[in-house]
Amino acid sequence: MWTSRAAILRQTGAPMTIETLEVGPLAPGDVLVRVRAASLCHTDLEAIEGALAVNLPAVLGHEAAGEIAALGQDVSDLAKGDRVVLSWNPHCGACFYCEKAQPILCRTFLANGPRGYHFDGKPRLSCDAVPVHQLMYLGGFSEYCVVPAQSAIRVPDAMPFDRAALIGCGVMTGVGAVTRIAKPGWGDTAMVIGCGAVGLSAIQGAVLAGCGEIIAVDPNPARRQLAQAIGATRAVGPEEAVDLARSLTEGRGADLVVEAAGRPETFRLSVEAVRPGGQIVWLGKVAVNEEVAFRWGSLMQEKRIVRSSYGGANPARDFPMLARAYLDGKLKLDEMISARIRLEDINEGFAALKRGETVRSVVTFP
Ligand SMILES: NC(=O)c1ccc[n+]([C@@H]2O[C@H](COP(=O)([O-])OP(=O)(O)OC[C@H]3O[C@@H](n4cnc5c(N)ncnc54)[C@H](O)[C@@H]3O)[C@@H](O)[C@H]2O)c1
Ligand SMILES: [Zn+2]
Ligand SMILES: [Zn+2]
Repeated sequence: MWTSRAAILRQTGAPMTIETLEVGPLAPGDVLVRVRAASLCHTDLEAIEGALAVNLPAVLGHEAAGEIAALGQDVSDLAKGDRVVLSWNPHCGACFYCEKAQPILCRTFLANGPRGYHFDGKPRLSCDAVPVHQLMYLGGFSEYCVVPAQSAIRVPDAMPFDRAALIGCGVMTGVGAVTRIAKPGWGDTAMVIGCGAVGLSAIQGAVLAGCGEIIAVDPNPARRQLAQAIGATRAVGPEEAVDLARSLTEGRGADLVVEAAGRPETFRLSVEAVRPGGQIVWLGKVAVNEEVAFRWGSLMQEKRIVRSSYGGANPARDFPMLARAYLDGKLKLDEMISARIRLEDINEGFAALKRGETVRSVVTFP
């Protein structure tokens, strides 16, 4: 058993408190990770505000990187000191969906994740002997966390922890939406709606996939500027997006549109801006019971729509490739870090995320 300082959410809407947890013991397939960096994502914010139901008390944080500090007795493919990026999609490998190569729909994953339990349905953390839940099997806002070994993906030692953390959710989701889900053709015209961490990553996915024109759409001029700095060839506000896509494509519309803003109007915009026969990947989300209306004509003409969680991630395959791309200068991550903060400043970090001031704040641990 270990102890760890962590940010604990005890009540929806209330600030997290910094407390000391009891961590462990490790089950045979677990690893103990010394967390070195954990970034603040919108999904954590949804949990804080109650839009995403999580059992409390809980440790949030699902974009994290660190080093292996201890191994469960059955873990043989990782070693103490390995540098790892954490994946929030452990999967059993044997259920109907795993057999269909759709691990994001794994039955065990979907059964235990929403309850904030570990992959075997049991807790690993406690505070004064009361179990503490882990968001998305991780709980990265803690000096140490216990995760299934398959959730700890080794990356090169040269990969800086704070930038490695981003790979675990937003970067994987955005890059994967283009490279793993849509797989556009070389020279295709892509549009990305919403230029937060997810959209900025989708833009980079379009660059890596060899797209020609890459249109970034965001009402925020600072985000448009950032989008152009990391590879968008054009950047406009949402009201100009459809006309621009058509003017660049002899009136057809974009070959691929990635939606990464999570608003009814951006889902609508995505289907208006794509060409007949083109494809749309939705990444954003609204509340699960909210209805989104479409003009029927905008859905016609053989358009293909996929709503993706995690951008078709295969973390064991993709995280090392993303780290390598960063180290080779092909994937820009420095630009996405707006602030490095202490664990004690996490509540203010989320307030800044909610105000739209930061792309990503990263909690760094000494
Ligand atoms: N599918 C997944 O696995 C997954 C993973 C992480 C996040 N998400 C979701 O993806 C979305 C984006 O996440 P993020 O962390 O990048 O969020 P973010 O808030 O940092 O970025 C959203 C961006 O959308 C812009 N925006 C707002 N209104 C717009 C409009 N009308 N048109 C175009 N852009 C507009 C904002 O200015 C902002 O730059 C969220 O809905 C989030 O919940 C999904
Ligand atoms: Zn499964
Ligand atoms: Zn996330």
